[in-house]
Amino acid sequence: MRLLVTGGAGFIGANFVHQTVADRPEVGVVVLDALTYAGNRASLDSIADRIEFVRGDVADQELVDRLVGGVDAVVHFAAESHNDNSLAQPFPFVQTNIVGTFALLEAVRRHDVRYHHISTDEVYGDLDAHEPPFTPNTPYNPSSPYSASKASSDLLVRAWVRSFGVRATISNCSNNYGPYQHVEKFIPRQITNLIDGVRPRLYGAGHQVRDWIHVHDHNRAVWTILEHGRIGQTYLIGANDELDNKSVIELILAEFGRDADDFDHVTDRPGHDQRYAIDASLLRTELGWEPRFADFRAGLSATIRWYREHEDWWRPNKAVTESTYLTAGEKVL
Ligand code: NAD
Ligand code: DAU
Repeated sequence: MRLLVTGGAGFIGANFVHQTVADRPEVGVVVLDALTYAGNRASLDSIADRIEFVRGDVADQELVDRLVGGVDAVVHFAAESHNDNSLAQPFPFVQTNIVGTFALLEAVRRHDVRYHHISTDEVYGDLDAHEPPFTPNTPYNPSSPYSASKASSDLLVRAWVRSFGVRATISNCSNNYGPYQHVEKFIPRQITNLIDGVRPRLYGAGHQVRDWIHVHDHNRAVWTILEHGRIGQTYLIGANDELDNKSVIELILAEFGRDADDFDHVTDRPGHDQRYAIDASLLRTELGWEPRFADFRAGLSATIRWYREHEDWWRPNKAVTESTYLTAGEKVL
């Protein structure tokens, strides 16, 4: 089998490629990645001779058509992925997430190639504390330019399945954590701040809730859906690990032996989604998937260890990321 993995130099994509090379040596992996600020070729260095790497844009129809013509399946991770960036500069989100998905859908349609679309729970909007978790039937209600662009791309996939018979599945996953995550994101930002002796930064009061899942569990679910999922079906992926942001910062501080209140409250995110929560029962009952990283504290602790041991990987992005936050107006409250 030959597999095209878009966004394979990003956080989840790179972990997916590592897992695939390790567990399924019979699969030929082609990575297509534009190496934006979020992509890091170094994430794939240790397996560079086991994969084919193509630097390019998923919205480049000619390139995408050529690559898709040479594979049996596509897993589409590539995206602009950070909510805060989408508030500052939405256009790349429209271009990559919507136009890029369109280019891939046209190519898989032309070549009749199996397609799996990686999406997010954010397409459903947010929940209050008492609402039941998202299911595949929850109406779409995205809040940010990022989540609206992901919702748009999901709807394109659904239309290409229905109108053109494209063999596609979609997964909508909750917040991932683990190795190779860019330092702009919540958990790595706080870990690397603490390594640098800087106080963690909590948006607003920090009562927003996220449903955390280890990236390896997400990627195992993706393989399960790719192999056994029903064409046209949407599967939600989550590990039932809801925590508010303040509690996550307190756990990280405890791992560093610091006081629970040793952090700063900073400017809140405009339109900040309150709570995400996933009902993954379809994936569990129909496809038999279960998370292996059931203990968030243990997974977090292993992730902190990874960042301590891989400073060479994250250091080149740290200063520029922090200066982007400052330029965007982030202030201690
Ligand atoms: P990321 O930002 O770490 O990586 C994105 C990758 O896509 C980078 O390597 C980047 O270079 C590449 N890329 C961006 N634009 C491109 C383009 N035009 N052409 C080719 N490559 C391009 O993102 P991530 O956190 O790994 O997210 C991967 C996917 O998973 C995204 O589709 C995201 O919406 C989805 N997702 C993420 C999470 C999460 O918690 N991070 C949760 C659910 C779903
Ligand atoms: O739910 C899935 C989504 O999870 C993915 O689709 C996105 O690609 C991914 O980035 C993530 O979105 P969030 O906006 O939830 O993740 P982020 O890491 O940016 O922030 C997590 C929470 O932490 C959020 O409530 C904002 C808050 N936060 C974030 C940062 C960077 C802080 O309190 N302080 C921070 O410094």
